[in-house]
This record gives sequence, C-alpha cells and structure tokens, in this order.
Amino acid sequence: MIISGGARLKGVVTISGAKNAILPILAASLLSESPLVLEGVPCLDDVKIMKDVLQELGVKVNFVGDMMEIDPSSINSTEVSPSLMRMMRASNLVMGALLGRFGRVRVSQPGGCTIGSRPMDLHLKSFIALGAEVAQNHGFIEAECARLEGTDLHLDFPSVGATENIMMAAAMAEGTTIIRNTAREPEIIELQNFLNKLGARIKGAGLDVIRIDGVPKLGREIAYRVIPDRIETGTFMVAAAVTRGDVLIRNTIPEHVEPVTAKLREAGIDVQEKDDWIHVRGVDRWNSLDVRTMPFPGFPTDMQAQMMVFLSLARGTSIITENIFENRFQHVGELRRMGAQIRVEGRSAVVEGVQSLTGAVVESTDLRAGAALVLGGLASDNTTVVEGLQHIDRGYEKLESKLRLLGAKVRREA
Ligand code: EPZ
Repeated sequence: MIISGGARLKGVVTISGAKNAILPILAASLLSESPLVLEGVPCLDDVKIMKDVLQELGVKVNFVGDMMEIDPSSINSTEVSPSLMRMMRASNLVMGALLGRFGRVRVSQPGGCTIGSRPMDLHLKSFIALGAEVAQNHGFIEAECARLEGTDLHLDFPSVGATENIMMAAAMAEGTTIIRNTAREPEIIELQNFLNKLGARIKGAGLDVIRIDGVPKLGREIAYRVIPDRIETGTFMVAAAVTRGDVLIRNTIPEHVEPVTAKLREAGIDVQEKDDWIHVRGVDRWNSLDVRTMPFPGFPTDMQAQMMVFLSLARGTSIITENIFENRFQHVGELRRMGAQIRVEGRSAVVEGVQSLTGAVVESTDLRAGAALVLGGLASDNTTVVEGLQHIDRGYEKLESKLRLLGAKVRREA
C-alpha cells in the first residue's frame, strides 16, 4: 500500500460488520438444524476462511453482498483440515459447536501467531469438565463425548475464545452450566443473543458469570444482523486524530469503544458521540498519557498498536503496557523506522513523542500492527510503503477506498 501522508482526513466513513462477532456466530451456526440468514457480514479474508471451514464440514453457504445464507442441515463431518486450521486460529471456535451437537470434533492444534503462543488450555480444560475425553497427539486435538453434562466452571483468565467455545458446547448439554470469570466483550453478548434466537437458554453475557440451561436441539429459521466492528471504529477514530482531521464515523456503537474515546479525550481530542455515530476532530498537538490493555471493558489490546502511533506524536512521554498478549510489540521496530522514539521494557513500551514521523518502507507483522503502520503513513510528511497487506485484509474491509473517501492519498499495488 503506497501512502502519500500529510492530508487531514475529512468526511464520513461507514463501519462494516464486526470480524470478532461474525466468526463465533458462523461457528455457532453449526449448532442449528435449520437454515438461517446473516446480514451485515463484512467481506474479509477471515470470514472467507470460516466460510471454507463450514463448507468443508458439509454446510451450504451462499455469501452475496453482505448477506450470508447458511444451511447446516447437511453437515457430514466433524473434522477440520490442518491447512484450513493453519490459515486462521479462530477456526478453533468450531470445536464447542461440533462437540456439543455431534459429540465429537477433530482439529489440528491451531498454530500460534506472531502476537503470542495462544494456547487452548482453558478451552480444553472446560471441555473435559463438561465430560469430554480430550486427546492431543501428532499435532491434532480430538474431543469426544456422547452427551456433555452441565457443570460449574471457573476460567483462570477471561478468555474470549474459551468463553465462546464453552457457551456453544454447553448450549445442548444435559443440565445447567455456569461459567465464572467470563470474557465480557460485546461479541460475547452477540453470541448469546444469536444462540438464544436459535432456541438456546443463556443468560449473563456481558457480566462475569454466564448461566446456560442445556436444550435438546437448536434451530429456527432466523435472520441475524452482525454488530458494527468496534476495532475498525477505533482505528478510524485514531486516523482522524493523527491526521488532525475531522471525521464523522457512522454505523457504530459508541459504548463499544468507550475506553478508546476516554483515552483520546484525555489526550485533548474532541470526540462527540450519539446514537450510532462518533465525530472526531483532531487538534494540532495532544498530550501524552499511559495506556494499559485489559479485558473488556478495559482498553482493548486490538487498539494498542494504533494508540502507539497516536502517542508517538503526542507532547511528552507515554507508557503503553500490553497485558493480554506476550508478544504484541512487533510494530515498534517498524514505527522506529518512521522516526518514532519507542523503547520496549518487558511488557511496556516507553514512547517519547516526536514532532512528526517520516515515510518509510515498512512491513506488517499482524493485522493490527498493519493497520497502525497505515495510520503512521497517513500522519507522515512524505511517502510510506506498507507491505504484508494479507494481514490487513483479514480484518479491514475496503480500507484504502474508505480512506480515499476521506481524502487520503493511498493506493494499492500488486
Ligand atoms: C480474541 O482472540 C480476538 N479474536 C482477538 O482479536 C483479541 O485480541 C483477543 O480476543 C483479546 O481480546 C477473535 O475474537 C477471533 P483470548 P482469543 O482467548 O479468543 C491467553 C484481532 O486482531 N489464553 O481472550 O484468542 C492467550 O494466549 C484478534 O482481531 C490462554 O492462555 O483471545 C492470550 O494471551 C487478535 N489459554 C490471552 O489469553 C487459553 O486457553 C487472551 O486470549 C486461551 C487464551
């Protein structure tokens, strides 16, 4: 992606459907005996991979525009191929649904990725507590159980994926399952709403205890609209701030990005919000501040890299502490190539604000690092080349055309 930086972003941008809401919902559709329709589905590479996973399992999927018709009544497998598993770790979200509905699942151990080892111990420990036999060998994970039994679970860490996998496994288990210390992300609430529309009986999502009363089967011919993407929203909020622009962000849910709004306001950025829009007006210089990533409703780890670009241009020194992933500072080296003054000390990055960044050729290492480098390019006073767009295409729909509509000078070259 080639970016001629310096333009103040101005205008209106519309947010697409949430990647981290649609992925668990696609997995959860495996529980349904009836066809269903999803609306507001973003056209992302990760969504296409999950579609391939469902089709490999025998599900009929028709993806046209932002609508996806899914017919899970012809599922004929409970195994996901290693090649698909390796392409996207979130494929592991099919485990809970396949185990819960068919009593067995076989997947390859999901690869880690650059931001961390990403173990599945909390998922597997919970499946065992629900009565499943779990075996891990030769790089495969197998789980079997004729009928899962509801139980009382406590998560060592409020893992998003583990919470989601347990909700799906327990939806058709015998009796009641209680999950304590659950993730509280908005996407967990969406999964509860989706499953309940299919006939599940789940309560408490969004708080830290979720109760699931198992039902014998799931399936209603429903249509479900995916919520807007809070991380795409936050990314455009920071884009407006670092370019000293004036951007109206539409089709979003302000309370889902409250931690980002709070930090931008603390730095001196003018953020107005109402109903389904957020208006961000940049200022010439802003203040440094400290950020600690935490599970929702704390500051989201998926906005850490973007915030680092913002703080690289602040007045003074900021400290960013990454508490969720053990290796999520890959973007630091690339930002330094653009003139940022950052040094990493363990889980923290110390960011000395500079007057401006300068364009460079930089490499995306993961989805949000890539997005941060684009923001760096937009804020720089000359040309930046961002390579490794396959990472960005996993989680941002039509990024450069949305940015061009806001006045950015950006183009993609094969
Ligand atoms: C989800 O990943 C998101 N992905 C991630 O977004 C996001 O960064 C993460 O939640 C945290 O908010 C999707 O929703 C598809 P976790 P997930 O389980 O579920 C450790 C993006 O950019 N852990 O909450 O994998 C784990 O290693 C992506 O959109 C265990 O130790 O996150 C990590 O350090 C990146 N054992 C921490 O918990 C387990 O069994 C948080 O992981 C599970 C997790």
